[in-house]
Amino acid sequence: YHVSMDALASLCKRRGFIFQTSEIYGGINGFWDYGPLGVELKRNIKESWWKSVVQTRENVVGLDSSIIMHPRVWEASGHVGNFKDPMLDCRETKGRYRADQILVFKHKSNAATLMFAYPEDEEPPRKKVKKMGKQNPDEYEIVPLLDIPVENYDRLVGPDASEAGTLTEPRAFNLMFKTHVGPVEENAAVAWLRPETAQGIFAQFGNVHAVSRQKIPFGIAQIGKAFRNEINPRNYTFRSREFEQMELEYFIKPGTDAEQHEYWVSERLKWYERVGLPEGRMHRDIHEGDALAHYASACTDIMYDFPFGTQELEGIAARGNFDLTQHQNTSGKGLEYYDEETKERYLPHVVEPSAGVDRIALALLCEAYRVEWIPKDGGEVLTADPDAKRAPEGYEARTVLRFAPSIAPYKVAVFPLLKNKEELVGKAREVFEQLNERWNCFYDQAGAIGRRYRRQDEIGTPLGVTIDFDTLEDDTVTVRDRDTMEQVRMPISELEAYVAEKVRF
Ligand code: GAP
Repeated sequence: YHVSMDALASLCKRRGFIFQTSEIYGGINGFWDYGPLGVELKRNIKESWWKSVVQTRENVVGLDSSIIMHPRVWEASGHVGNFKDPMLDCRETKGRYRADQILVFKHKSNAATLMFAYPEDEEPPRKKVKKMGKQNPDEYEIVPLLDIPVENYDRLVGPDASEAGTLTEPRAFNLMFKTHVGPVEENAAVAWLRPETAQGIFAQFGNVHAVSRQKIPFGIAQIGKAFRNEINPRNYTFRSREFEQMELEYFIKPGTDAEQHEYWVSERLKWYERVGLPEGRMHRDIHEGDALAHYASACTDIMYDFPFGTQELEGIAARGNFDLTQHQNTSGKGLEYYDEETKERYLPHVVEPSAGVDRIALALLCEAYRVEWIPKDGGEVLTADPDAKRAPEGYEARTVLRFAPSIAPYKVAVFPLLKNKEELVGKAREVFEQLNERWNCFYDQAGAIGRRYRRQDEIGTPLGVTIDFDTLEDDTVTVRDRDTMEQVRMPISELEAYVAEKVRF
């Protein structure tokens, strides 16, 4: 990797991709704002997804359902009863942890000895491990906290704690945010912020099917905000409390589940490669046995190698007809599909690709970030040594975001060579306005041209167009490529076609 998360977060703040929410009041853990650049990046991700999943498929239609729905939706879906994480507190530090994120360093067989517990994304405290493992390192092991019987909890030393028994027992914690509808805060008015967009689709299955006159297989897609009161938000925006999902419910004939599931896993992996996540950093995590929900016949998580570990971007599940059955039973409204060819009536099964916009944005930023050393007198560009303070003699450093052009916040930057020459500025504005009509473009006339290039490199703008004195003679411009830094000369009349080819989704 070329990036530490600290360096990335600093660039994201400095250039306006991501800010801590309500920062002037000290922020609030698990919530983020996307600045001028971040909002464009996210829009491009969503547009690319919509194009690939909805627009180019005649048998997929869209939906925009409300965030707050009838509370019975969440009873039917199982979220009121089951959408819980095991949580525990450290009495000493008052830290709160998700129990499945805690590891324990323990003696293999002697349950009477102290056991040291620590969050999985931290190193086990070296001193403690040394002290405990000194006698015979082979006698010690690291196991998940959830494997430790609750009666042994009083022997646990918590994170940063010196005393035994500092961790409370794990207890279930519902992740849904609760609110009230109407002026009275009574139980009858309790409502939930949706923890996924999917249930909005199931609850409207009847209406959407009736109006879209689709035959199975067909899909309903939705992009929107979801909310989860995560116990331990972390890894920058990776695990947030408010985030955006892009979900498809693809309704299929029972019995075709396995083939449709495999089809969607491979379709979605192709999309990830197109938006700039290389095959080598993408993985399938196939759920089997206990890891599979009781109603699901298959589930594959699509994983990406983040700098902080390999983590999920999207889950693709074959959910049978669990959701439609639940909503039919709870609402008492028939949701069956009538198959005109076979004259059968049945509840369709569903395959659900469910992706997170914020996680994809973070993966794209991690992937795109590079620091390079550019030789001042020509020659080979070097990848910077991340530990070096500055570029070696004869080189200068540049930071560049190598986004796929279709995803980049700005597609083209337009520069007049000099800002105090009216003809140059006039011509540059003309070119800018022509291109900006079609794509999000950036106009910059401040400072030396080399510095203007670097500023665009840092936000990932794939093309730079410079208007100089020759332009005024022959209507040609210089087009600079972000990645190769090579420059070509072309007539203004060819510019639009050139950009269109370069930035195509
Ligand atoms: N309807 C299925 C569903 O919601 P999920 O695996 O819980 O499945 C799907 O969520 C995707 O939503 C995840 O793969 C992830 O990209 C995103 N997501 C879930 N929780 C998130 C969180 N706390 N912060 C950011 N993204 C999250």
